[in-house]
Amino acid sequence: MSKRVAVIGAGPSGLAQLRAFQSAKEKGADIPDIVCFEKQANWGGLWNYTWRTGLDEHGEPVHGSMYRYLWSNGPKEGLEFADYSFEEHFGRPIASYPPRAVLFDYIEGRVKKAGVRHWIRFNSPVRHVSYDEHEGMFHVTVQDHEKDVEYTEEFDHVIVASGHFSTPNVPEYPGFDSFKGRVLHAHDFRDAMEFAGKDILIIGTSYSAEDIGSQCWKYGCKSVTVSHRTAPMGYKWPENWKEVPLLEKVEGNTATFKDGSSKDVDAIILCTGYLHHFPFMAENLKLKTNNRLYPVNLYNGVVWEHNPKLMYLGMQDQWYTFNMFDAQAWYARDVIMGRLDVPSQAEMHADIDKWREAEDNIPDDYGAIEFQGKYTMDLMALTDYPEFDCSGANQAFFEWKKHKKENIMTFRDHGYTSALTGTKAPAHHTPWRDALDDSLEAYLRTEA
Ligand SMILES: Cc1cc2nc3c(=O)[nH]c(=O)nc-3n(C[C@H](O)[C@H](O)[C@H](O)COP(=O)(O)OP(=O)(O)OC[C@H]3O[C@@H](n4cnc5c(N)ncnc54)[C@H](O)[C@@H]3O)c2cc1C
Ligand SMILES: NC(=O)c1ccc[n+]([C@@H]2O[C@H](COP(=O)([O-])OP(=O)(O)OC[C@H]3O[C@@H](n4cnc5c(N)ncnc54)[C@H](OP(=O)(O)O)[C@@H]3O)[C@@H](O)[C@H]2O)c1
Repeated sequence: MSKRVAVIGAGPSGLAQLRAFQSAKEKGADIPDIVCFEKQANWGGLWNYTWRTGLDEHGEPVHGSMYRYLWSNGPKEGLEFADYSFEEHFGRPIASYPPRAVLFDYIEGRVKKAGVRHWIRFNSPVRHVSYDEHEGMFHVTVQDHEKDVEYTEEFDHVIVASGHFSTPNVPEYPGFDSFKGRVLHAHDFRDAMEFAGKDILIIGTSYSAEDIGSQCWKYGCKSVTVSHRTAPMGYKWPENWKEVPLLEKVEGNTATFKDGSSKDVDAIILCTGYLHHFPFMAENLKLKTNNRLYPVNLYNGVVWEHNPKLMYLGMQDQWYTFNMFDAQAWYARDVIMGRLDVPSQAEMHADIDKWREAEDNIPDDYGAIEFQGKYTMDLMALTDYPEFDCSGANQAFFEWKKHKKENIMTFRDHGYTSALTGTKAPAHHTPWRDALDDSLEAYLRTEA
């Protein structure tokens, strides 16, 4: 009897897993039975935009954290699939920072071509996963929202690909309960136009803070104030943008910061990150980590060291994304299919410790990019995943960082060279700050 593999989630990581198995099948291998459970009605994970916030149509927590007008925050040359270039999908070179709809189209193009949709059960959130030591099988309990039934099936392997940017980390500050404006987390931010003409306060200094602030600026907010816990972002911001120390309290509409300065604001947007949250995993199978490059307990960043039949994909903090998920998925596939062995738990643990120690000694963002590039290349080398030169992708990331430093509002106007095709991306027809229409049709036009 064939092995059964459950994949939880049909976002970029879960889809990478489906494509990995399909590519082995295409080459004549006898692959396991694959069932992918997806909570939403369509694939694409975070890239599958929803206007909803809070609970979805079935009363499930909304997974989506993406918003309208979101463009890629890093160059597409860093995330390109090695088996499916942007040029193959779009039929010509396109600019380097595609909006969400364009990246969704690219993600979807590969899996449509692979023909893996029939492996996915949509509207099917996984409720519980446990492992029966005696049987050596996982019990996966799923809600089928279409039939309104809950059922349990057995699997030899479980691959968790449910993402980790959907459960918001929500700190509270004195005075929030009586603030006269709106307090929201980035997870619930959908449309910058809502804040046109408003003074906004952002808490946090990472990508959500930078990008949501930039969006609101682009779509006409009155001012942006960004409050930091550790350090300011330090870019050359427009003149209606200010960086201030951590928020101390709010009284009425007045926000007061640690240095005693204050600002009247209309809305507070918490860009304070996300929690790795797996309420559906039994306690002994549950990954517990903060957002870092090498989470604990995952050998090669994928295999659960306490039970190698369980794997997690995409759980790292992310410079690399789609091609790193691919490297992980091809590796997971080969472990499951017995093409690759994993060592003893003690050896896995020692190896994880070694990587985590190296991560702790990374001096800066450039070192972090190289670290994740090396991790990705090491994994790719273990399987038949097509060749991809991460040093070329690292280069695109390095230039991206330089361009952001030069001008945070124009970095998306640059183009980078694909490590896959060697083509340098053309400039987009309209500078990012003037391109208010983020649709696929508008982006793919060759003229403004
Ligand atoms: C606002 C924002 C912007 C981003 N922008 C970029 C960018 O520009 N470039 C980039 O490369 N990356 C970006 N990212 C990073 C993003 O994490 C990855 O691009 C990618 O979406 C991760 O894929 P994933 O499949 O691991 O997770 P997700 O995309 O989160 O997909 C997980 C899937 O699992 C499903 N799921 C969750 N729980 C269950 C359950 N219990 N049962 C069944 N299914 C479940 C979800 O519905 C979802 O479809 C961004 C992230 C955020 C939050
Ligand atoms: N395409 C895009 O343009 C785009 C847009 C948004 C997000 N993203 C992606 O989304 C992912 C998540 O990014 P993120 O910025 O949401 O999360 P993140 O990178 O984890 O950053 C969390 C931020 O919150 C701050 N923070 C956490 N707790 C806090 C507290 N109690 N008080 C004050 N500050 C606090 C942290 O500050 P410290 O430094 O002090 O810890 C940090 O600045 C990333 O992969 C990113 O690339 C992409």
